[in-house]
Amino acid sequence: MKYADVLPLRPTTNGNGAYLPFADSIGRLEALDWDFAGAKTGFLTHSLHPYPAKYIPQIPNALIQELSSVGETILDPFCGSGTSLVEALRLDRNAVGVDANPLACLISLAKTTRITEDEASLLKEMAQRLVSEGQILSSDTPMLFPDLPTFPESDRPSFDGLNEWFDPHVVDELAYIKSRCLKLPAPHLRQLALVAMSSIIVTVSRQDSDTRYVRRDKNLKRGDTLNLFSRALATAAQRVLEFSDELQPYRTVDVHAANLLDCPDVGLVDLVVCSPPYPNAYSYHLYHRTRMLWLDMNQPEFKKQEIGSHRKYSSKSANAATVDTFRLELRKILEWLTHHLRHNRYACFVIGDSTVRGVRIKNDDLLINVGEEVGFKLEANIPRTLQSSKKSFNPAIGKIKQEHIVILRNTAGSA
Ligand SMILES: C[S@@+](CC[C@H](N)C(=O)[O-])C[C@H]1O[C@@H](n2cnc3c(N)ncnc32)[C@H](O)[C@@H]1O
Repeated sequence: MKYADVLPLRPTTNGNGAYLPFADSIGRLEALDWDFAGAKTGFLTHSLHPYPAKYIPQIPNALIQELSSVGETILDPFCGSGTSLVEALRLDRNAVGVDANPLACLISLAKTTRITEDEASLLKEMAQRLVSEGQILSSDTPMLFPDLPTFPESDRPSFDGLNEWFDPHVVDELAYIKSRCLKLPAPHLRQLALVAMSSIIVTVSRQDSDTRYVRRDKNLKRGDTLNLFSRALATAAQRVLEFSDELQPYRTVDVHAANLLDCPDVGLVDLVVCSPPYPNAYSYHLYHRTRMLWLDMNQPEFKKQEIGSHRKYSSKSANAATVDTFRLELRKILEWLTHHLRHNRYACFVIGDSTVRGVRIKNDDLLINVGEEVGFKLEANIPRTLQSSKKSFNPAIGKIKQEHIVILRNTAGSA
């Protein structure tokens, strides 16, 4: 089966007369080669912004095709950079995403937005102008371009650590870029341009990489930041335009910036597809810290809300998080899900193992166990090998070689 085409509607009963419209799909999903070796993963808007531990689009694509019908609504409660939402819209479904990380929500919105040819041209012209300005800056004749060096002090950000993480000329250029993004005439264009800006922030900062919050000098020249941004903006405009051409105009996407532990109201959905955070794996609040501060987001609040963060689990304090912390959080979220997912429909989780205080945790077993406590029934637990070039890095256990696709059916609820 090629997970690129939309499948026809499924029959609505199985042999026993129970209402299990997608019963045959489970066998097909179990037989699928989930490695997707060699598959292209960065097409359309998928590569607009880096996001640690994002999954490849083929995973939600296969699950959405097999376990839902055209026109239904797909929820990703940990939507991160919006991979499931993009695939849901491409497959002519409606999409709902939730994430406590405001940057994740901004990226998800930008990746699922629609723009016209004229709007794409406006963004590309802005990118072109910034390239010229970058060239003037790098030619060391700033007098030809007086605006940037006299950029008002009040427009520079002033967060803790700004000067440790950024060279002064990079601060000037980023502040200038941000002011230009905010002058764009419509909210979706501003969001898209800010996501292009955010996408280059780790590259132009002294942060080593997207998952290493340590400093190293990058020796950027004047003008490099403007050039990198203009390239990111032009590419984003083109990718979103191509994506817009694929979409049905009447499909909707809702992104909720919310802590799942507050049980946000997301309405009723037909399928859940997600990869949840798991204990001691990543620290999004840290990897995204400088990006969030540049974008005026409440980073300390997200730090408090983030589930599974390496920081909370490796803390030496008496109230450091434990596996029980994770179990309780998961239980609350799965119970909440039973109220929002239609009866007898499926919730799919892509999840790997982790290590907490030297003990290996099989998160798939834990998830299944907690799910069964709140009314889910296990339909499948499919192991998946990560491609060697794309192994996720987990600071607690190094390279993860395998993860699981756990498919649960909601036997609770009645809708
Ligand atoms: C593994 S990532 C999801 C990546 C996503 N599948 C993608 O392709 O980009 C897990 C997400 O859970 C989010 N998260 C952590 N704690 C949360 C909470 N309390 N409420 C909502 N989302 C949370 C993180 O911000 C992160 O984006």
